[in-house]
Amino acid sequence: MVDAFIKLTSQSQGRDRVFRATQYACALSVYLLRNNTERKDLVAKLKSLENNMSAGRKLFRLGNAANSIEAAKRTMQLSDRVLCLCLTAANINRTLYFICDNVLWARGVGLIRNIDKERWSLNSSRWYFLSLLMNLTRDVYVLTQLMARRAKERRFKQRMDQHLSENPEVAEVVIPQLDAFLFLLWETLKSNPAVGLDTLKNVCDLFIPLDKLGIYHSSAGVVGFCGLVSSLIGIVTLTHPTLRIKP
Ligand SMILES: *[C@@H]1O[C@H](CO)[C@@H](O)[C@H](O)[C@H]1NC(C)=O
Repeated sequence: MVDAFIKLTSQSQGRDRVFRATQYACALSVYLLRNNTERKDLVAKLKSLENNMSAGRKLFRLGNAANSIEAAKRTMQLSDRVLCLCLTAANINRTLYFICDNVLWARGVGLIRNIDKERWSLNSSRWYFLSLLMNLTRDVYVLTQLMARRAKERRFKQRMDQHLSENPEVAEVVIPQLDAFLFLLWETLKSNPAVGLDTLKNVCDLFIPLDKLGIYHSSAGVVGFCGLVSSLIGIVTLTHPTLRIKP
């Protein structure tokens, strides 16, 4: 029963990502058209579509808290201590985020009344933010490990020497350590696109709660753009599982 339920909601992941991409594409278009007086009708339609997407996603997300608890149970078994800690914490924070999200949904449809919407909304953003931070910590950890491994490869050392001899001005003028670091980072990302995509996705997502929590105010355009990019990456990783970071 629980399994079937979890399977159903994980299949709905694809739908959620398409809805999310639409939601942020609308937000971005509304921002770009904000000064266009002739397009007032279109802007109103886009705003309503954006709100509908957001409300629809909240309904489909009802089962996600159970999903995240299952995910937390799985990540608790990981043998790598850092991965285990980061991902379990991320999943617990995500569960709390979904609970807030469900409460907000229930209030939106009038099932419950006497709750402070603003406070629950802030809490929801806070848990989401923490979950993202944990995910980003995981990305940085995985990336540094991959870079350390790569730096030891003989083939990499040869390419590095070649890179430096082809760009002698870099080795002399610009800080050589920084150049070496960036070269190593670039080579590592190129051969592990899944890590790069996940990092980019998490960084893009970060702008949304940062703005909501008032930690860093970006424009509605930036939030719309970053949300759209991260949703598109989400769709790509769903259709191309090799580009999805594991575990
Ligand atoms: C954190 O990463 C996990 C596993 O990759 C993912 O399921 C989850 O959605 C991510 N959390 C957020 C807030 O994006």
